[in-house]
Amino acid sequence: MSLPADVHERTGGQLVQRIIYSQEDIATRVAEMGREITDYYPKGEDLLVLGLLKGSFIFLADLAREIARPIHVDFLVASSYGSGTVSTGQVNLVYDPEASLTDRHVLLVEDIIDSGNTINRLVPMLEERGPKSLELCTLLHKRIAPPLAREARWVGFDAPPAFLIGYGLDHSENYRNLPFIASL
Ligand code: PRP
Repeated sequence: MSLPADVHERTGGQLVQRIIYSQEDIATRVAEMGREITDYYPKGEDLLVLGLLKGSFIFLADLAREIARPIHVDFLVASSYGSGTVSTGQVNLVYDPEASLTDRHVLLVEDIIDSGNTINRLVPMLEERGPKSLELCTLLHKRIAPPLAREARWVGFDAPPAFLIGYGLDHSENYRNLPFIASL
């Protein structure tokens, strides 16, 4: 896919290899996921949408508006990558959601599943809090992780094994605000 005309302005002149998912690709897929999530949960039951920061902030903002039923939104922050491009394998919980998970449907929203470390560390911690159900929705899944503690029920795209930036994904905190997803 060709690069948008303003890509150099947006990235500060950094070389972006190619667009993997355009703004339009993402919007179409997010709308589909929103409809599927809307249909999946029983009417009248509480649904807590839990965004894993920081990477999911744009995906969650768009997805939440495509879910046509009442939801509550909260966040948790877990950080595993330092400033490099390879997972360190350690997951630190930096912010714990204020909302109670007990007896509620909980939908954990991720931007990407890469090594699976983050999910494998978080899912048991969240399950201990007694949610009525715990499902996982990720925009991107690299499909390179060994079997996960919980497989994602909703996956936006099976992602290529490249280092991806944009739409919430960063490299050393840069590029999260790109409206598309590109390889660096
Ligand atoms: C990234 C991404 C996922 C996780 C996926 O988060 O947002 O949460 O890594 O990688 P894994 O499957 O190998 O664990 P990161 O820790 O970089 O923090 P961020 O969301 O603040 O960018």
